Amino acid sequence: MPFPIISASKTKTIPIQLISADKFPAWLKKQPADLKKWLALHEFTGKAGSYMVLPTPNGTIDKILAGVELPLNIWSIANLPAKIPMGTYHLEGSFKAEEASNLALGWALATYEFSKYKKSDKKFPQLVAPKNCDNALVKSFFEAICWARDLINTPANDMNPASLANEAASWAKSQKAKINIIKGEALLKENYPMIYTVGKAADIPPHLVDIRFSRKKAPKITLVGKGVTFDTGGLDIKTAGGMKIMKKDMGGAANVLALAKVIVETNLPIELRVLLPIVENAVSGNAMRPLDIVPTRKGITVEIGNTDAEGRLILSDALFEADSEAPDLIIDCATLTGAARVALGTDVAVFFTDDNKLAAKLAEISERESDPLWRLPLWKGYRSLLDTLNADLSNDPDSSYGGSITAALFLKEFVRKTKSWIHVDMMAWNLQNKAGRPQGGEAVAIRALYQLIKENYGSAR
Ligand code: BES
Ligand code: ZN
Ligand code: ZN
Repeated sequence: MPFPIISASKTKTIPIQLISADKFPAWLKKQPADLKKWLALHEFTGKAGSYMVLPTPNGTIDKILAGVELPLNIWSIANLPAKIPMGTYHLEGSFKAEEASNLALGWALATYEFSKYKKSDKKFPQLVAPKNCDNALVKSFFEAICWARDLINTPANDMNPASLANEAASWAKSQKAKINIIKGEALLKENYPMIYTVGKAADIPPHLVDIRFSRKKAPKITLVGKGVTFDTGGLDIKTAGGMKIMKKDMGGAANVLALAKVIVETNLPIELRVLLPIVENAVSGNAMRPLDIVPTRKGITVEIGNTDAEGRLILSDALFEADSEAPDLIIDCATLTGAARVALGTDVAVFFTDDNKLAAKLAEISERESDPLWRLPLWKGYRSLLDTLNADLSNDPDSSYGGSITAALFLKEFVRKTKSWIHVDMMAWNLQNKAGRPQGGEAVAIRALYQLIKENYGSAR
């Protein structure tokens, strides 16, 4: 995917005028009669998502009128690249820095196609970066989000634990990071019993990818991502419908990689660590069984009440390792529960944290960045649902109500020393096409999380 935002154009570019339905009537009054007639003929009223191509008398494009809703957000003009004629465009008017960058990013993301297996020769128009746009940041996010989408969209026959670990490692290598990968039985030797237990049934062994970017006197942040390259449910096998899109169950890992990529590329002063437990939750003779009791890295035992609740199992070992260094912040991202989707639908990610100040900040940034995240409580009252007769903890809560909360409470058992921890339960998948967001794998929450890290931790101590 070529980056379609150019910093300047030597030749004349075509203007795009943004107009909202509210302001349209007043604007229309001032227009010449022939334009009024033309717009009336097409019933153009400035409705968000609608647009008009206005021609010149000699058959070229005079301008594009694009209906938008105010306030503008990242997707305001993301419908255009797939629809308007090829050419190079610019936006009329002036925008705040954040608006300018978001409009450009939305345009760029609308040119994403997953064309690894089905070639496409579709070409997209270019946009001149609007004034105030941070084009380096936009490019970094564009590439990171395309990467996350590609990783998620690539089917599990090609995106298995080894290939996902390789993707992470080759990126880390290109950035001169320190990389450590533990795989297969070595996970037992190195005391990651849960990652091993969940991943051992698959032909391709489980991996733990550990990437470090050292930076002295900088806040330390560790990102953890659920990397289940396919979730059959294990012996508690999913239904066909429930299993179908489970190639996306490494969406947490993909998002963590994308976020890390932008943090590194924009050189935020952060001592960054990335931990990715990567497994395939498969069915086989040596798969973990319901009511197997398995030790964790922490030392406490877990009874596997349901082999389909595998995400919290692999995350428990990775989070305990992350917590052992007591960084300033741990963020984990995971396609952890169906319950989170029942609660908030597919587009709004759930987040949990005990840090009220950080939560308020993230909620504010999420709205500002139009990157939707909503807080649910780590409600202590539900903790007892994880108790079980013969082990310290069950991965299958006694009630399915509040399933996203009980999953988060399970994770919390493994994060004890770190000042702030944010857990994000996400869909990482678009069920339908929307402007700029094609059906399939999706980056979630990383623009908001990046901004949170930048604003809260981004100045070296
Ligand atoms: N990967 C799934 C969660 C999921 C399902 C995310 C659908 C997004 C869409 C996870 O591993 C899972 O199966 N969780 C179970 C947990 C339950 C057995 C306690 C769930 O949510 O049903
Ligand atoms: Zn599962
Ligand atoms: Zn899963």
